[in-house]
Amino acid sequence: MESINNLFLKCYKDKRVLVTGHTGFKGAWLSLWLLELEAKVAGFSIDVPTEPSAFEAMELSHRLQDFRGDVRRMKELRSIFKEFRPQIIFHLAAQPFVRESLREPKRTIETNVMGTVNVLECVRESSIVEAVVIITSDQCYENVDCEWGYREIDRLGGDDPQKASKTCSELICQAYSRSYFGAEGSTAIATARAGYVIGGGDWAKHRLVPDCIKAWYDREVPVINHPEYRCPWQHVFEPLSGYLWLGALLTNQRSDLNGESFNFGSEPSSVRSVEELIESLIARLSKGRWVRAQSEDIYSEPIYRLNCEKALNQLQWVSVLSYDDMVDKTVEWYKQFYKGGTDMYSTGRQQIMDYVRMAAEKKLAWTFGKEYEKRSRRRAAGGE
Ligand SMILES: NC(=O)c1ccc[n+]([C@@H]2O[C@H](COP(=O)([O-])OP(=O)(O)OC[C@H]3O[C@@H](n4cnc5c(N)ncnc54)[C@H](O)[C@@H]3O)[C@@H](O)[C@H]2O)c1
Repeated sequence: MESINNLFLKCYKDKRVLVTGHTGFKGAWLSLWLLELEAKVAGFSIDVPTEPSAFEAMELSHRLQDFRGDVRRMKELRSIFKEFRPQIIFHLAAQPFVRESLREPKRTIETNVMGTVNVLECVRESSIVEAVVIITSDQCYENVDCEWGYREIDRLGGDDPQKASKTCSELICQAYSRSYFGAEGSTAIATARAGYVIGGGDWAKHRLVPDCIKAWYDREVPVINHPEYRCPWQHVFEPLSGYLWLGALLTNQRSDLNGESFNFGSEPSSVRSVEELIESLIARLSKGRWVRAQSEDIYSEPIYRLNCEKALNQLQWVSVLSYDDMVDKTVEWYKQFYKGGTDMYSTGRQQIMDYVRMAAEKKLAWTFGKEYEKRSRRRAAGGE
């Protein structure tokens, strides 16, 4: 994949990159992308969380170093750090579900909070980690029904154990970044916040797209809560391009980003109601119907819109796909999977290449390669 090698300042080529949560929805796609960038990838996860899964469908286990372990156990993490000696880390391993967190608050907090602490302790013990990107959530903000979008300087909060754990994770990163990291030439860390992520290969329960897709292929009818809710949907490649770009900049030249947090979200034009998204899926699949829930779901969530101007101003990052492109890509992946006999790694790889091509047409900074560095130097010297 020639053109793709110029991406992200070429910083991932031959780098040892550890992805925690690599068997999950986002982690699997991130691992595939890193492999295409010619990184040496290791993954660390407790299990493969769903059946089917993007991780297994794209046959990732034999393409990377596939470790099983628990982020709550320092000993297990430490031994991976010893064996693999990561230079860049993307920490995605988490218990991400609100319902589950209400059932199991202790496990959620231990996984999301102490898991982050353990990763950062291993980083502190290592002398070779260059960059760490900690993935938290759009839900780390205190819910004030902010219609114009939460900004990174807005107050954090957490009305349930899952949200509180992600908020704690943010605060811990801030403390570690200020206390231990960020000196010239040493490790730099940053956090990334995103939500309403859709894309092929998600089969998590109680998420809209997987619930519908699974129901339709099982000839069932999904029951939908709050079809009127309007959400800022985004394709999984959008936040992943943000994570990769953040990792590349932390590694390369931007120690000023140490301790910073970034929102990664879609354009306002991607905001659609739940009902509109379901109808878009049905139109493309040419199958499926749904029914409205009779009673209100006790788990109904507030909507978190993100303001992404900081990512635009400081990273020159914006989202790439239109609403239609996002739904097309999502449905195409599931169609290929359920058809059977398709090489899903190639399908995934092709989808990433198409996304990269569209990003390059938009002249996004992460596609410039060395050109970005030259421009940054010119800008720093006052030439632009
Ligand atoms: N998907 C979304 O819409 C969304 C929205 C906001 C934030 N996030 C965040 O992004 C990250 C990835 O989300 P996802 O959708 O891929 O989640 P997922 O549930 O698909 O994957 C979670 C991953 O974490 C691993 N894991 C869980 N507990 C672990 C433990 N104790 N030790 C080691 N590994 C463990 C699982 O094995 C899996 O690989 C999470 O931090 C999540 O909170 C996701």
